[in-house]
This record gives sequence, C-alpha cells and structure tokens, in this order.
Amino acid sequence: MLKINHTKKPAPTVLFIFGGSGDLNQRKLTPALYNLWMDGLMPEKFSIIGTGRTDYSNEKFRDHLLEGINEFSRRKSDGNGSWEKFSQQVSYLRMDVDQPKDYVAMAKIISDCEAEWGVEAHVLFYLAVAPQLVPEITTNLNKLEKSKDKNKARIVIEKPFGHDLKSAEELNRLLTEMFDESQIYRIDHYLGKETVQNILALRFANALFEPIWNRNYIDHVQITAAETVGVEDRGGYYERSGALRDMVQNHILQLICMVAMEAPVSFEADEIRNKKSDVLNAIRKIKKEEVQQYAVRGQYSQGWVQGQQEKAYREEKGVAPNSSVETFAAVKFYIDNWRWQDVPFYVRTGKFLKEKTTLITVQFKEAPKYAFPPEASETWRSNRLTISIQPEMDIRLRFQAKRPGQTMSLNPVNMVFSYSDNYDAPQPEAYETLLLDAMMGNPTQFMRGDQVEIAWEVIEPILETWENRPPVDFPNYAPGTWGPEDAEALIAREGRNWITLPPKRKEG
Ligand code: BG6
Repeated sequence: MLKINHTKKPAPTVLFIFGGSGDLNQRKLTPALYNLWMDGLMPEKFSIIGTGRTDYSNEKFRDHLLEGINEFSRRKSDGNGSWEKFSQQVSYLRMDVDQPKDYVAMAKIISDCEAEWGVEAHVLFYLAVAPQLVPEITTNLNKLEKSKDKNKARIVIEKPFGHDLKSAEELNRLLTEMFDESQIYRIDHYLGKETVQNILALRFANALFEPIWNRNYIDHVQITAAETVGVEDRGGYYERSGALRDMVQNHILQLICMVAMEAPVSFEADEIRNKKSDVLNAIRKIKKEEVQQYAVRGQYSQGWVQGQQEKAYREEKGVAPNSSVETFAAVKFYIDNWRWQDVPFYVRTGKFLKEKTTLITVQFKEAPKYAFPPEASETWRSNRLTISIQPEMDIRLRFQAKRPGQTMSLNPVNMVFSYSDNYDAPQPEAYETLLLDAMMGNPTQFMRGDQVEIAWEVIEPILETWENRPPVDFPNYAPGTWGPEDAEALIAREGRNWITLPPKRKEG
C-alpha cells in the first residue's frame, strides 16, 4: 500500500467566511477546515470567522457547525474533545454587507489576531454568497488596509461567477480594478477532486497514453455527471441557473480541459491555466441556428424513485409553475485543434437521473479484426478507458482477451486501478485540497479570469437560443431515468451510445 504524505502548512491565517450561516459552510467548508486541522495541515495560528445576517452567539454558531460535522464530514466529532479544541478558533460576526462599520469590525479582528500572534497574518475572504452580493462585498473589502497586501490577502469566490458572459466580464473588470489577479481565487470544486487531479498524472506521468491520445486513435470522449437528487431546497437558485450554467459552464468544461489539454512544460499555475485556456479557446462555437443539432435540454416530471413519489421540478419550492429552466443538458462539443479535430466530446448532466455517477470515457477506435474468424470476435469491443470520478473512484482499461478453452474466442476484459485497493489513507475532500491551496497561495486549481469568460462564451449560443425558444415539451423526463429521449438520439444518430458502468463492475 502506498502512504500519502502531506508536508504543507500555511502561514498564520485569519479566514472570513461570508455566508457563514449558510449551507455550503455547514456542509463543506467547516468540515473541510476541521479535517485539515485533524490532519495537521491548518496553520499553527488561525482564526475562522463566519459572517452573516443571522443572529448567532459564538456558541450557537459552533453548535450549528457541529451538526454539519456530524452529518457531512468524513470525520465526525470524535468524543475526545477534538471538535471542542478546533472550534475554540471559530467565531461569528453578525454583519450587513452594505454597512461600512461592519468592515471596520473585520479590520479590528485582523489586527487583534496579529497583536495576539505577534506576526502579520494572511487573510482569506471566502465569499460563499449569492453572486449579486459579490460586487458590494469586494468593494468594501477593497477599502481594508489589509487587502492592499498582494501577498497576504486573498479572495475566494464561489461559483457561479457571473450569470452570463457580460456579467462575468463586468465582475472580472471590477475585481481586477481593485485586486491583483493573483489575489483572486475563483473556485470550481471539481478541480479539487482527487480523481480529477489524477487525470494529469495518468496522462503525463505515463508513456503509454499520450502517444495515442489524439484523433488518430480516439473515436470520441464522453462525460456524464449525473445526480439522483432533484434541486432539493435550492429551487430559487436553480431558477436563475439551470443545468447548463450550474454544471456545464464550469465543472464539465473543466473536465474537458483536463482530458484535452496539451502537456504542460511545468506545474506552474499559469502554465497549467494557459494550457486549459487553449482548449477552451479551441472549442467550436456552436452557431445559434445549429444549437438543436448539438444540444438537448430536459426537465424532470413528477414520478416514483425507489418507492418514493417525487415532485416535478415545476412543483419544487421557489420554482415557477411554468418554468422553462432545464434540469438536464446534453451537448456535443468539438475542439478545433490539431489533436482533436472531428473527435466529438459528448457531455450530459442532470438532476434526478438513474445513477449518481461522474464518469469520463475515452473510446478508442476499432482495431482491425480481419485476422480473426467472425465467431471469434462476436463479443469484440473497442478499447476503452473509463475514469470514474465519483462515487466509484477507479480507472479501467478495457481490452480483448482470449477466452480460456480450445478455441480462439475473444471477449472484453478490464484492467482496473481502484483507489480503495491501492491507498489506505482516506481521500481528502475537494474543499480540503482547495482551501489548503488558497491558504498556501497556490492558484493552479482555480479558474483564472480569462478561463471563466471563455467558458461563458462557449455556452452562450446555447443559453441564448434556449432562452429565446421556450421548450414545448417540458417536463420531458421522469425521475430515475437517463433523461429525455432526445439525449439518446443526440449520440445514437452517430452510431454511438451513452456509456455507464455496469452494475457490480462487470464488463458487459
Ligand atoms: C454544484 C452544483 O456546483 O455541484 C450542484 O451547484 C451540484 O447543483 C454539485 O449538485 C455537484 O457536486 P458533486 O461534487 O456532488 O458532484
């Protein structure tokens, strides 16, 4: 078994979490910080301050976070006082984001910490808030003396970054007028997932794949990011978003970048980000009149999943009864460059689909079969590399093997690398990795301003076309299915089909 060895530790840090009383903090951020602390990766000196409009005492705030630890963290409170010790460094500041005096209170917290610790602190402002609040908050933060320190003050901005290309450009302009780009960390939590980071290792630390990783050998690439839940209590947010904005503009395009980028010459942040920007720039812009041939949308109806009746999207809290917002999207992209010309990248994502899975499939072209008699190759399948991002975490390579026996009969088999069989240390959550990177000042796995804008440019023709042509067939898929029939047709008309991992990992 390989052991994972962490050696990094950030400088003394004051961390403010805007949206401190919200869901993201309770489910992801505080559990991530707690796990970093348990792993000895938090700074020697740190203070975490949740901010929000809810009235909380420090005690009540900690109780609220503890519930999140016990429900969502990979490590629960252990009964040995770990949480109690950690949470001594967690407090709450009630604030109104439009009140300058509340920012003065933040400045005082920073200087008090510095006086107590006897060092100049690094400061991280984490904005886990609705995008419309970002301009107001950042403008106020900019007035703090500390924000001027390019090396010590950083802002982390949650997705969605803008609502469309125009708003993302405006937000970038505003932010870069006030802060240096090196201070701005636009988060996409998919980039923090172990299995996503491993794509670079798989591709560029092995001699085997790169020579065939191109249009000469690869038939097509697929990405599925499927969820088995609906929009839950986020109907209000989702009405302004939809699947294309929520998943494709960010997570899925980033996965495409990881699969399609050229080899970096170093792991410097800008080198990696340049290579990704090249991919985004090369993605063919779909013409508005052709959107129908490239993209399919869907919305879930009411239905039964595992014996339970589920509401239609249009009946969810915060959703308009005639909503045209898509809860499913499938798109065919092309990357117009030397490596990928004419290789389709099919992607699909949706709520309430049949399985929870995020899967990347690289389908290779067929090998010539002429040497084998037809009966030998009845179950012939092309080579395929499947990268399971979650919840399974593995990589499998499918190839032909001779079936044991006196005849030359072939069937496909898999070589499988499974994380759980190879590593005994538990995998850090994406937010752990990214929060640590942000505290360390490593922006490699964060989105640079230009990347976010190009990603919006890529999906803008689809967004606009869908907005201008309300769907006539919504709702068009039942919960617990793989989405609308048109999504099957999108890929089937090209003689291909969507790939899912067979149950119990047996190859079909
Ligand atoms: C978020 C989306 O960015 O990603 C959610 O806003 C989605 O709608 C989530 O559920 C999926 O993340 P994960 O890590 O569970 O695949």
